[in-house]
Amino acid sequence: MSLFLFVCICFLWHNGDVMAVYAIGDLHLCFSRPEKDMTVFGPAWKNREKRVLKNVRKLNEDDVLILLGDHSWGTDLENSRPDLEYIKNLPGRKVLLRGNHDRFWDAKKTDRLNREFAGDLFFLQNNFYPYEDYALVGTKGIAFENLCTYEQFEKLRDREEKRLLTSFEAAEKAGFRKFIMLLHFPPTSIGEEESCFTRIAEEHHAEQVIYAHCHGTERHDDSFKGMVRGVNYSLASGDYLKFKPIRVL
Ligand SMILES: [Fe+2]
Ligand SMILES: [Fe+2]
Repeated sequence: MSLFLFVCICFLWHNGDVMAVYAIGDLHLCFSRPEKDMTVFGPAWKNREKRVLKNVRKLNEDDVLILLGDHSWGTDLENSRPDLEYIKNLPGRKVLLRGNHDRFWDAKKTDRLNREFAGDLFFLQNNFYPYEDYALVGTKGIAFENLCTYEQFEKLRDREEKRLLTSFEAAEKAGFRKFIMLLHFPPTSIGEEESCFTRIAEEHHAEQVIYAHCHGTERHDDSFKGMVRGVNYSLASGDYLKFKPIRVL
């Protein structure tokens, strides 16, 4: 065996040194609220805490683990602490996005969360997370689900659009030109071919959009999957992934 080949094998053997980015959403943890038992929605949710632990055990401390929202059923920060503690103890650098159920996370108080959990958890809101020459940018987003009037939806969508642009601008200002865009909600409402979120992804040449929120086989095709107009879309809701995070980079 040539020395070159031997060195290559040794390098690959230590591939733990090569960093990677993974993503999953919707753990819907309920350590403080056992009454929020998700198995009422089917066996797909059974033992998800243990399954996630098993599926991330090979991650390195330098890997990035993106959690795409709906982390906790907690009613406030105190109530969500056991759920956040569980996430804190997962391997890798944890980057969290807000989901529609995350009552512990007031968007306006994101800086406070980032100070309190500095070094353990990064809360992505109106900011970005650097990974090599990529910026992870994002916001919760929104899709129309008939849960409010269309006018109310438009208001929420406009706010989320601004938040997403703020995240991109912060990353661009810091010199980043390569982007992975994160949303909790799907990028389009059912039946839409485009939205302000897909337009922003295209205009900023985001390589990928990763989103979650859609649960149950009847919702897994709500929006894009795969390449659309130069952007690669992936659904990463926990039940869709069988609670095994997808590799993003
Ligand atoms: Fe969810
Ligand atoms: Fe959600």
